This record gives sequence, C-alpha cells and structure tokens, in this order.
Amino acid sequence: MPVSWTTASIPDLSGRLALVTGASSGLGLETCRALAAHGATVVMACRSRQRAEAARQSLLTPTGGGSPDAGAGASPWGALDLLDLDLADLASVRSAAAEVADRYGRLDLLINNAGVMAPPRTLSRDGFELQFATNHLGHFVLTLLLLPLLRQSPAARVVHVTSGAQYFGRIGFDDLQGERRYDRWQAYSQSKLANVMTAVELQQRLQAEGSGVLSLAAHPGLARTNLQPTSVAMNGSPIEAFAYRLMGPLFQSAAMGALPQLYAATAPEATPAGHYGPDQLGGMKGYPTPVRIAPAAQDADQRQRLWQVSEELGQAVLGDVALTLGRA
Ligand SMILES: NC(=O)c1ccc[n+]([C@@H]2O[C@H](COP(=O)([O-])OP(=O)(O)OC[C@H]3O[C@@H](n4cnc5c(N)ncnc54)[C@H](OP(=O)(O)O)[C@@H]3O)[C@@H](O)[C@H]2O)c1
Repeated sequence: MPVSWTTASIPDLSGRLALVTGASSGLGLETCRALAAHGATVVMACRSRQRAEAARQSLLTPTGGGSPDAGAGASPWGALDLLDLDLADLASVRSAAAEVADRYGRLDLLINNAGVMAPPRTLSRDGFELQFATNHLGHFVLTLLLLPLLRQSPAARVVHVTSGAQYFGRIGFDDLQGERRYDRWQAYSQSKLANVMTAVELQQRLQAEGSGVLSLAAHPGLARTNLQPTSVAMNGSPIEAFAYRLMGPLFQSAAMGALPQLYAATAPEATPAGHYGPDQLGGMKGYPTPVRIAPAAQDADQRQRLWQVSEELGQAVLGDVALTLGRA
C-alpha cells in the first residue's frame, strides 16, 4: 500500500456505476464526492428525498467540487443520481433494487455505508430492532438483490462499512432483536460485527460460485459526522454529549474517515475480504491500512449461522423473493 493513500490515488472511474447508501451526510456524502470526482456515475441512495437533494446540490457547487468548471484538466465529474431507499423497510429495499435494475441494468460498486448508532430500542417497519434492521439486514437484503447486476460487471465490488465497535460485539443468536434485554451499545456493536461477518462470508460464497465480484470491509475510525449528534438527539443523553465534546480532538474529518471505504472500493491492490481502517492512534485516525477483523468474524460457523438467520428473516418479510446464495 502506498504511504498515506488519499483520494488522489483513486483511478479513473469513468464508465463505472456506484451506489452509496446513506449518501445524505457524513462518510456517504464524502464517498460520493470522491467517486464522482473521478468520473463515476454515483447513485445516492437515501431515505429522505429532501436531504438527498440537498446533499446532491452541496456537491454541485464550486466548493463542493462538482461545478461544471471545477477540476479543469482532471477527469470530468460523473453524474449524481438519487434513489429512494429506507433500509429499515425491506419493501423499500426491494423497490430500490428493482429501480436500479430498471434504470441502469448494471452496477459496478455497492457501498453499504448507511447506519444508525445506539438509539433507544426502536422497531423497524418490519418489526426488527432498528440497528440490526438498518445497519445489517437492510444491507444484507439489498446486496443479495443487487448481486445479479454486480455479477455482470467485469470488476464489481461490495464494500461493507463497519466500525471499531465490531471488536466489542457478539451476535446474540438467542435474542437477536434485543427483546429480552436491550443494551443499545451492544446492539450497535452486534450490527457492526454483523457487517464484517457478512463481508467475509459473502466473499467465501462468491468465490465458491466462481464469481469475480469482490466483497470487502472498511471502518472509518472516529469521524466527525451526523452519527454522534443524531445518537445524542435520539437518547437525550447529556453525559454522552459531554463525552463527545471531550473527545473532540480525537475526531478526524468525514473526508478522512471515508478514505478506508474509498480504498476498499477502488484501490487495485485491495484484496478479497480485505478489511481497512485508519493507521494511527489504534485505528482512530489516519490513512487507510489493512486492519484485523474481529475474531467472531473469523469463525465460519458463526458467519454461516448469521447468514442463514438473515436469509430467513429477509425471506419471511419479502416472501416471494429469492435471497439465497449458497456455499460450495
Ligand atoms: N462517524 C464515525 O465516527 C463512525 C465510526 C464507526 C463507524 N461509522 C459508520 O459509518 C457509517 C456512516 O455513518 P456516518 O458517520 O457518516 O453518519 P451520518 O452522517 O449520520 O450518516 C448516516 C447516513 O445513514 C443514513 N441512514 C440512517 N438510517 C437509514 C435508513 N433507514 N435508510 C437509509 N439510510 C439511512 C442517514 O440518512 P439521514 O440523513 O436520512 O439520517 C445518513 O445518510 C455508518 O455505518 C456508521 O456505523 C461511523
């Protein structure tokens, strides 16, 4: 890996189609900016059309980088398209995937980035715990529904955005939805561990079917985005608000936080099932480097169990849609 990999190392992406979930703010917005600046057509998949349009407009300004006269001499900016997607509603996930197939008939990059952190126990539209539903299950189903398009691309990648919280996570198979006991931080860690488990298991299954689609994972360290303010707003916790203020100097910018997922999505040297994060302060800030995955994600039995449960839950809601991707 080159020293201090930055967006300047992203290859020309002209002709590539990328879909980024949670593109309305934070890491998702920065990911869209960098991909479009290198010529990709970017589908900004968001639950609020209003916030999505505001985010798109923020990119299409001279300071956003995407005005027609910006970047003269560099690769031309790619188009920025909008897609309605609520990951906490599997019917919306199904419609979004169908819309991508209808509109484009292809897909090269899928960045599973959207997330919520540590809300009070809340249920998704389908009755699942909100973090499990948004961070894990919605992305799991979206990925399986988009795989037929990704398989057609000569060099497709799926990037799963996880977190350092994965190292504290465990999959509570006996109480996945936190019905008996809900600890909002444990539920967040569970969902982020599920992201990296899915990344590794998906790679295994793609390899088993002889597919060239790559599955990778990345975490941003600590990045200044809407994640923490939204979490505080949902919990009304003054202690957490104070803790984040104290931690202020540790936070890096959203643009820096997005680098590991951009590396996973575009670097030619990124490896199948590779996991990337920042290289400094124990993975809290810095430039992308390979980082270890949580031990539970290295356990094939746990991965396969999570995969099977996720398939069953998705199938229970969507019924008629095929959500299986077998192992050899
Ligand atoms: N920032 C960090 O320090 C940090 C650390 C570790 C991991 N991460 C991970 O990084 C990813 C991006 O988070 P961020 O830090 O950029 O936070 P953010 O600024 O709050 O962005 C989160 C994005 O997810 C979207 N989202 C939330 N629920 C959704 C749903 N049901 N359907 C579709 N989109 C939904 C949000 O949309 P709205 O605008 O509509 O709310 C927003 O666009 C998350 O997966 C998070 O777990 C972040």
